[in-house]
Amino acid sequence: MIKLDNIGLTFTRDGEQTEVLRGLTLAIPAGHLVAVLGPSGVGKSTLLRVIAGLLEPNTGGVTLDITPDRNKLSVAMVFQDARLLPWRKVWSNAAFGLEHGQLSSAERRAKAEAALALVGLAGFSERYPHELSGGQRQRVALARALAVEPEILLMDEPFAALDAITREGLQDELARIHAATRKTIVFVTHSIDEAVHIANEVVVLAGRPAHLTAKVTIDAPQPRRRGGAETADLVARLRAELLEPAA
Ligand SMILES: Nc1ncnc2c1ncn2[C@@H]1O[C@H](COP(=O)(O)OP(=O)(O)OP(=O)(O)O)[C@@H](O)[C@H]1O
Ligand SMILES: [Mg+2]
Repeated sequence: MIKLDNIGLTFTRDGEQTEVLRGLTLAIPAGHLVAVLGPSGVGKSTLLRVIAGLLEPNTGGVTLDITPDRNKLSVAMVFQDARLLPWRKVWSNAAFGLEHGQLSSAERRAKAEAALALVGLAGFSERYPHELSGGQRQRVALARALAVEPEILLMDEPFAALDAITREGLQDELARIHAATRKTIVFVTHSIDEAVHIANEVVVLAGRPAHLTAKVTIDAPQPRRRGGAETADLVARLRAELLEPAA
């Protein structure tokens, strides 16, 4: 579904070059939720932007195995901050990604409402972003991405700015949505616990330039228990990998 083949990326700024990614190869099967785990500044957002086609890699290539559909966006992205339009009501923010297609306004509204229900915001449609909590705003951003029914969902630390309780709630919700929709999701995070709680597979991005230093499959069924014995070894292993990445 998503194939990264020997991705390399170097930024050039004022004649100075920073090699951020080198030799990244990864295949993500359709329907998987893969967490990309790595420390701040390592190149996680850069990698996500390469997958989204927002950045052209210097070496290698990205293959997205998607069905082209003129009425639909195949790839949607959720950012660290909600990035809502403050002058639009919640439902209209959630419908934003549908506006370039051929849908009638009633159809757009219906899809937006369905996505809002999926993230637990039924009944909030008529509010404005400033009338929501931060966690609710982040849910609207998730609904906006889900409303277009993308085949691939790219998420860049979407819950990082939230308090621990809200964050855990949204992680559970995402795991539930993934189980219900079976979308292919790439989820960037610097939290080991978050990665282990939601993902089928965790890859570790480390080093300078960054490359993938570990790939761990997590078979524990959802819903998962936090801090459970079945994932304790995994957490320890990923922690070691982050602290001392294998060469
Ligand atoms: N447009 C750019 N020009 C030059 N350097 C850049 C550019 N964008 C990012 N970088 C550099 O690339 C490196 C990786 O940045 P990136 O945003 O991918 O990190 P990250 O892993 O997402 O970090 P965080 O967890 O803090 O979001 C950093 O050293 C950053 O300074
Ligand atoms: Mg980032």
